[in-house]
Amino acid sequence: MAVMLAAARRQPVPYTPVWFMRQAGRYLPEYRAVRERHSLLEICATPSLATEVTLQPVRRLGVDAAILFADILLPLVPMGLNLTFSKGEGPIIANPVRSTADVARLAHVDVRDALAPVLETVRLVRSELDSMTPLIGFAGAPFTVACYAIEGGSSRHFVTAKRLMYEAPAAWHELLQRLVILLGDYCAAQVEAGAQALQLFDSWVGALSPDDYTCYVLPYSRQLFDRLRALEVPLIHFGVETGSLLELMCDAGGDVIGIDWRVPLDEARDRIGPGRAVQGNLDPIALFAPLSELRRKVRDVLRRAGDGTGHIFNLGHGVLPETPVDHVRAVVDLVHEVTSR
Ligand code: CP3
Repeated sequence: MAVMLAAARRQPVPYTPVWFMRQAGRYLPEYRAVRERHSLLEICATPSLATEVTLQPVRRLGVDAAILFADILLPLVPMGLNLTFSKGEGPIIANPVRSTADVARLAHVDVRDALAPVLETVRLVRSELDSMTPLIGFAGAPFTVACYAIEGGSSRHFVTAKRLMYEAPAAWHELLQRLVILLGDYCAAQVEAGAQALQLFDSWVGALSPDDYTCYVLPYSRQLFDRLRALEVPLIHFGVETGSLLELMCDAGGDVIGIDWRVPLDEARDRIGPGRAVQGNLDPIALFAPLSELRRKVRDVLRRAGDGTGHIFNLGHGVLPETPVDHVRAVVDLVHEVTSR
């Protein structure tokens, strides 16, 4: 079995597998070459292009998994939200969701039809990968996707999203319920098309207090994980700045918990317990450090992960655009070398 899938299931592995969030992206010259001619949304909507950029980091880095090239915001488009990506500002939604009436206007989506190009990419990528390199499918978790739908773009304090949560709880609950169904359909369709693991990105959930997470988010994330469990692929549950939420995220679900660099991995493993694997947690900025310091930090992550299985090496968040490619490659080689058993 592929090493990454074995580690996710806490089965014995010949070495610790490694892949990177945002491993396809602007730090790769071959990605920038594609981006010169096509927008992000064009790449996502064109299976041959999305397949090419999914495979670029696999060829160049020797990572132990591919991650589908798509974006967590794509499912919002067929719901009726007008999504664009602007240079510098990131995603923009021209008609964000701000009321119960806005939620009621959202379209019910048939993912096989509306997201057909993404599913075709999954099939194409799978036909190109060898059996040792699994394809990870993904979606945003309901909270993080809802934040974009409500804020209409990236946000620092999530004031608009939290206000809707507090002031119009019925609208909030209805929106999250709608997202659970859509994202569940979308993940199931990705697995049906060939995805061998799924990661749910709850990137911004660390903005919440444990109490608000419990009340406004956990029931929906749990519903989604409960549904996805039946797909029988490993489920990875990831968020950033989740130091006060790890136990609650475990309650919601996931076979693997993604940890950022703010929580040492040994501490995370103690808190999470032996029943789940962990993924992480090198600081993405460590990739900018001199190689000697980078290697020291990689070894520290591996030491804290312990000797056994159940660790997938990754960053604590995505690769940044200016990252030196040779340092990313050096991390893959070092992880494999140090952990060869
Ligand atoms: O290798 C991969 O991981 C590729 C596929 C991927 C993308 N987005 C493509 C993309 C994945 C897994 C995502 C997830 C995603 N998208 C998240 C969760 C992960 C995280 O970073 O926390 C979020 C929050 C988004 C929303 C999003 N997409 C933002 C805020 C931005 C703008 C910021 C930025 O980095 O430019 C995007 C754009 C985006 N999605 C890029 C890529 C490669 C940037 C690239 C470009 O313009 O070419």
